Amino acid sequence: MVAPSFGDILDEKGIFLDKRVLSPHYTPDQLLYRDGEITSIMKAVAPVLKGSRAKNLFIYGKTGTGKSASVRQVLQKLEAEGVQEIAVIYLNCKVYDSRYKVLQKCITQFNPDFAKTGYSFALLYEKLLDWVEEKNIRLILALDEIDTVKDLDNLVYTLTRANDDLGKGCVSLIGISNKINFKQRLDPRSKSSLCEEELIFQPYNAQQLKGILEQRVKKGFKPNSVGESALNLSSAIAASDNGDARYALLLLLRAGEIADSQKDQVVLDKHVTLAQKIADEDKAYEVISTLPAQQQILLYGLATLAQDVSYKRLVEDNGEKLYFSGEVYEQYSRLCKKTGREPRTSRWYREYLGELEMLGLISMVESGKGIRGHTTLIKLEYAPEKVKKAIEKILFTEN
Ligand SMILES: Nc1ncnc2c1ncn2[C@@H]1O[C@H](COP(=O)(O)OP(=O)(O)OP(=O)(O)O)[C@@H](O)[C@H]1O
Ligand SMILES: [Mg+2]
Repeated sequence: MVAPSFGDILDEKGIFLDKRVLSPHYTPDQLLYRDGEITSIMKAVAPVLKGSRAKNLFIYGKTGTGKSASVRQVLQKLEAEGVQEIAVIYLNCKVYDSRYKVLQKCITQFNPDFAKTGYSFALLYEKLLDWVEEKNIRLILALDEIDTVKDLDNLVYTLTRANDDLGKGCVSLIGISNKINFKQRLDPRSKSSLCEEELIFQPYNAQQLKGILEQRVKKGFKPNSVGESALNLSSAIAASDNGDARYALLLLLRAGEIADSQKDQVVLDKHVTLAQKIADEDKAYEVISTLPAQQQILLYGLATLAQDVSYKRLVEDNGEKLYFSGEVYEQYSRLCKKTGREPRTSRWYREYLGELEMLGLISMVESGKGIRGHTTLIKLEYAPEKVKKAIEKILFTEN
C-alpha cells in the first residue's frame, strides 16, 4: 500500500474546508451591505464617548436580515475604544424574559458574586443605580428579541425613569425585534421612549444573498466545489423567502452535506433542491412542536386519516389527497376523548383550521357543487408519518 499524500487526506473530509464558517453562530469580520445601518447604530451610541447619554434605539427587520450581527459588531467596536465608564450589556430576551431577570443579569455583569435569587425588585433597581452612579457609568443595554419580555412596558418605564433618578451616569436601550406588530402592544409612553430613534433592516435581495454566500464559500469550501448555479439557486430561494441570510446559509450548508454524502465533488442545483425540502420540513416540525395541544390533536387526526387505507379520501386529478372537514372533525373529537380532553366546538375547530392554514401546515379548498352539498376539503401539506411522529413525541410522552 502506498502512503497517502496530504491531498488525499484532505480529500477524505469531502468538499468542506471549514464547516463552522457556515454555522449560524459564526459571524464574519465584515458584514456586507450593512454599512449604512451600522453607521446609524454607531451614531446613536456615539454620544457615550463624549460623556453623554446614547439615544434609545429600536431596530426592526425580518428574520435573518443581520440585526443581531450588526448590533453586536457596533458594541464590540465601542468596547474596543476602551473607555472605562462605558458599559455594554447585550442580552437575548428569550432567556431574560422579564424586567426582574434583565435587571438581575445586568447586576451580575458588574458584580458576578451577586446571589441569584431572593431580592425584591426595588432592591435590584437600587443596586443597579448605585453602580451606575458611583462609577459614573454610561450603560448601553441591548435587548435582542425584546418582544419576548413579558412585562416590557414596566421594563422600558423603569429604565427610562432611571435616568431621572440618577445624579451621575446614564442608561440607554437598544431594542431589537422581528415582530412587525410588536410596537402596537406597547403603551404609548414606553413606545415613544424606546423608539427615540428607529432603524429598519430591509430584507436582502438575491444578489446580496449571493454575495453573503460567496464570502463564506471562500472560507468554508474547498476551491471550485460550489457550482455557480447552486449559489444562484440558494440565493434566489432565500430571497423569495423573506431575504433571510440565515436560511441562505443553512441551504448551502445542507446542500454541501448532501453532496458530501453522495460523494459528489461539487455542490449542484439538485443538492440545493433537496436541502430546501429538508429545511422546510425541519421548519414545519419545529412549528408543529410549538402548537397548542388542541391544534396538535387536530393535525394528528388528519395525519391518521391520511394513513388509513380504508378511508375513502377524495383524490384530485393531480394526485392530491383531500379530506372532508366534517370527518376530520369527527376524528379530532375521537382523539380528544381518547386522550382525556374535551373536544372544542366546531366554531373553534374552524378557527384552528384557519391558523393551521396560515402556518402552511394544511390547505383548504371549497368543494364544488355535487360533492355532499358544499363542504370544505382539507389537505395535509407534509408527510403524515412525520407529522405524527413530531406530535407523538410531545403529546403522548407526557405523564
Ligand atoms: N450582511 C451580512 N453579511 C454576512 N453575513 C450576514 C449578514 N447579515 C446576516 N448575516 C448572517 O446571517 C445570519 C443571520 O443574521 P442575524 O442573526 O444578524 O439576523 P437577525 O436579523 O438578527 O435575525 P432574527 O430576527 O431572526 O434574530 C448570521 O449567521 C449572520 O452572520
Ligand atoms: Mg437576531
